Amino acid sequence: MQRGLPAVGVFALVLSAGASWAQTVAPTYAEHVAPILQQQCGSCHRPDGIGPMALLTYQDARRHAFTIKSRVEQRVMPPWHLDRTVGIQEYKNDISLTDDQIATIGRWVDAGAPEGDPALAPPPVEWPVGGEWTLAEELGRPPDFVVRSAPYTVKPNAQDQWWTPSLPFDGLEGPRWVRASEFKPAYPQGTKVVHHGHAQLVQELPDGSRRLRALGRYGVGKPGDVFPDDVGMKIEPGGTVSWNLHYYPIDVEVPNDIVEVGLWFYPEGDEPALETQGEVRFTVDQGGDMPWAGDIVIPPHSFKAQQGIHKLDRAALVHSFRPHMHMRGKEQSVEAIYPDGRREMLAKVDRYSHIWQISYLFADHAKPLLPAGTTLLFTSLWDNTAANPLNPDPDQWVVFGQRGVDEMSHVWLGMTYLTDEQYDQQAFARGRPERTEGGGQ
Ligand code: HEC
Repeated sequence: MQRGLPAVGVFALVLSAGASWAQTVAPTYAEHVAPILQQQCGSCHRPDGIGPMALLTYQDARRHAFTIKSRVEQRVMPPWHLDRTVGIQEYKNDISLTDDQIATIGRWVDAGAPEGDPALAPPPVEWPVGGEWTLAEELGRPPDFVVRSAPYTVKPNAQDQWWTPSLPFDGLEGPRWVRASEFKPAYPQGTKVVHHGHAQLVQELPDGSRRLRALGRYGVGKPGDVFPDDVGMKIEPGGTVSWNLHYYPIDVEVPNDIVEVGLWFYPEGDEPALETQGEVRFTVDQGGDMPWAGDIVIPPHSFKAQQGIHKLDRAALVHSFRPHMHMRGKEQSVEAIYPDGRREMLAKVDRYSHIWQISYLFADHAKPLLPAGTTLLFTSLWDNTAANPLNPDPDQWVVFGQRGVDEMSHVWLGMTYLTDEQYDQQAFARGRPERTEGGGQ
């Protein structure tokens, strides 16, 4: 078959010989597995982390070898629920494992979890010292402004707990432009129990509408976010901060936990060119022109889907995607239908898990750039069957509601709205043609 292509034939032979050699030699902890556990698990599975056990030493890894194998093969760990077959695949905070890494862990466990030569293990990572602002080094100073949650006592050995205080937003003297924000649980106990959280600034405007600004969000693998150069979020004094904290209990009581959100501002008088709104909520289940949608009714032992449509009257750059449903949530996606009719899947989770609220942060060059007139189509799928491991009771009819056992469906997108001129500049920078009249892209 390879007549006429001898060079390729020889090359292929060498490659396949290499592959079979690698498959017969078992991976070792020190050389092959420790780097994966350190890089992709250690941020949570360390003594101060939110994971239920540390995975930093050979003894740790060996003790948990079988559960590690099963969790990574099912892609339950690390928590990252994006569908790998559709939509944008490049994210700033991607902690998922490659197929090769999963196979390496599997073969290591099957071979009896050998240690190998400890000298080949990577040097230990210096984890951020508990209690310090991790962005302080990059930004050259501690935050300019700190917002604090109200104290909460986390009960030991209980179920997951949610704490949602609303507190007055005091202390800001005039409007400021946020450059970066970081969400910091208290040290040392808070880092073990705060699973995820969000702090949102809510302000009533004279016209009766509400302005929402996401001050801080704590998601997987990323405690904070620095906006790109010349992008900022404008905040004004007044209003309230609405907290949504998810605590994950440990064996001991954690009294009076307080979470802090630190904000770094642009220098006074320095206005960035683009104003981001932070996370904006797009409902799938209610509001707007969807009169029936609050009406979630999911029969026992069944699946149910729902769609929401939002048309953008301005161009936008999208920074992040955070799906939100409750215990029956299975899939959620956002597609763009461009003004020229083209349709594109932007992002989709196909293994949604209510215990995680992950904000998927698009890599800078992969952020969706949407012309004015784009329609966003959101789709939610619920699984109320016994096959859903988080389903507390598949015999129930499930309706809309705030509790985890009721359902909801909305999506948070990090939005920076653009003028048509700004859109053209961004499109040009990406090597795309300029927006045309009535067209897009
Ligand atoms: C963002 C934090 C985070 C990361 C990263 C993470 N985990 Fe976890 N892990 C958790 C939390 C929290 C739990 C407990 C809740 C759950 O099971 O979802 C957990 C549970 C587990 C369990 C089950 C423990 C048990 O006894 O039931 C295993 C095994 C595990 N993780 C392995 C890993 C491995 C291996 C990696 C890396 C490849 C990893 N995790 C990455 C946070 C994390």
